[in-house]
Amino acid sequence: MPTFFEKLCYMVRRCIFYVLSIGPMPNHIAFIMDGNRRYANKRSLERGTGHRAGFSALISILRYCYEMGVKYVTIYAFSIDNFRRKPEEVQSTMDLMKEKIDELLKEQSFVNEYEVRLNFWGNHNLLNDPLRLSVEKAMRSTCHNTGPVLSVCVAYTSTDEIAHAIEMSCHEKRDLMKELHACGCKNDFFEEFDMQSVISVADFERHLYTSGCPDPDIVIRTSGETRLSNFLLLQSSFSHLQNPTPLWPDFSFSHLVWAILKYQRGHPYLQERSRRSKKME
Ligand code: FPP
Repeated sequence: MPTFFEKLCYMVRRCIFYVLSIGPMPNHIAFIMDGNRRYANKRSLERGTGHRAGFSALISILRYCYEMGVKYVTIYAFSIDNFRRKPEEVQSTMDLMKEKIDELLKEQSFVNEYEVRLNFWGNHNLLNDPLRLSVEKAMRSTCHNTGPVLSVCVAYTSTDEIAHAIEMSCHEKRDLMKELHACGCKNDFFEEFDMQSVISVADFERHLYTSGCPDPDIVIRTSGETRLSNFLLLQSSFSHLQNPTPLWPDFSFSHLVWAILKYQRGHPYLQERSRRSKKME
């Protein structure tokens, strides 16, 4: 049961979102949740505490996003490069993710409250067995949810996503050519370098993890860092990139509102650039 104060905060947020919605609203926001370890270091806390605080911040930010009608949120939870960290740190982050995913699947969780569909993008073979099983279960049990979509990039890098999409496109073409050859539609398998055997941009895009999901309107990297660090490189060409200074666990409602206002200010310019680029294609 929400307290009077929580109800009041909710009403205030609704008013703010109503005013914001007069301008263009993002449909997809992507977050690089940077600064969790620094948050713990600054407070002389154990490292894992920073990631736990980061998860709490994530849940609050997701609520605000869904309350304001953002349909897609994508987060960079663990990159392939992060596997180079100390083994005990990798292990504790995997354990934390498994614990939190399992919590998210419980009856009274926020995932059920908002009917969230969970995606996990990345190379799942790199995850340990318990986490991989949780990830697969989470995707399976939420795949029919009709609410907002939360995509968690774990064991992910853009370069790995691109390599994976090329590999899948090649397999698909090879299977198609074999089928055509077998049914006699083609006479010589090696002379058929025609339109059907060429991998098009559309073929390739269909095999990206992000296929079916719109490109992010805003990419926010906390802690003031200005790099994309191999995150959604193909999908962020026309995104509004922002690098607010708070560390991720300190990223709050007011920072999110500020991010939307900045996006609204830059929106006409980004739209124009995107339109021109589409015309040139
Ligand atoms: C980057 O901060 C963040 C991570 C490597 C992991 C963040 C993971 C969570 C908040 C949990 C997410 C869980 C689920 C289930 C989605 P950092 O560790 O690189 O910190 P630093 O930038 O201060 O070094």
